[in-house]
Amino acid sequence: MYVEMKQINKTFDGFHASNNVSFGVERGYLAALLGPSGSGKTTILRMIAGLDKPDSGDILINGTKVNDMPGSKRGIGFVFQNYALFRYMTVADNIAFGLEVQKKSKTEIKNRVEELLQLISMEELGSRYPHQLSGGQRQRVAFARALAPNPQLLLLDEPFAAIDAKVRRELRVWLKGMIEMVGITSIFVTHDQEEAMEVADTVIITNQGNVEQIGTPEEICMHPQTDFVADFIDATRCEAMVAAR
Ligand SMILES: Nc1ncnc2c1ncn2[C@@H]1O[C@H](COP(=O)(O)OP(=O)(O)O)[C@@H](O)[C@H]1O
Ligand SMILES: [Mg+2]
Repeated sequence: MYVEMKQINKTFDGFHASNNVSFGVERGYLAALLGPSGSGKTTILRMIAGLDKPDSGDILINGTKVNDMPGSKRGIGFVFQNYALFRYMTVADNIAFGLEVQKKSKTEIKNRVEELLQLISMEELGSRYPHQLSGGQRQRVAFARALAPNPQLLLLDEPFAAIDAKVRRELRVWLKGMIEMVGITSIFVTHDQEEAMEVADTVIITNQGNVEQIGTPEEICMHPQTDFVADFIDATRCEAMVAAR
């Protein structure tokens, strides 16, 4: 397992946001945390990222316990819905940001930015500003910016939530292809079962701070293990989504 959560508990003023949460994500896999709003998905992602600390339990990345390791040392890239692009920086400068922080050489930064612009098919748009881009293009830049410093783990929190429905499906298929091509272990949060079923290798269902079920989209659709999962999953749509993969 590349990422392991072992019996993680997290409370906010006595409220259990994570209740004995355990799961693993294998190297190179794309996992989805799927559950209703308030079920504890973002809390889990923030603890993996080092933005929050669990009250108890262990977080392992590549076999190393990272509970006390600063987030910046964990080799993680983020695409957060609210982690917007820097408005006063060009696309190229946004992508270069993490490399500047790492004090890479000018040449190295220039080459890496060009490589990433090519990866996201936006070679010609490096000098644009975020407001001159569509929502889908902005999320592609956010993806490139997250990948620039070569993280080993990518965390995405509702990355498509602000994108209109028409583009969303196209973008998630694109993102899945990119993640597969780059081969990076990824965990993304969504409350949209279609999104999870269509792109994830592993789906982790959350409810009131608990993990209800972990499985492939097929397993979750065909064999819900708890009443909550059976109720939450729309079986007909679910099967259609799995069939469309
Ligand atoms: N910093 C915080 N302080 C107090 N309560 C919080 C904080 N972060 C999250 N919570 C609570 O924990 C629960 C789970 O939140 P969250 O992980 O954001 O859920 P999700 O991402 O699934 O919508 C919610 O009830 C939320 O109000
Ligand atoms: Mg959330």
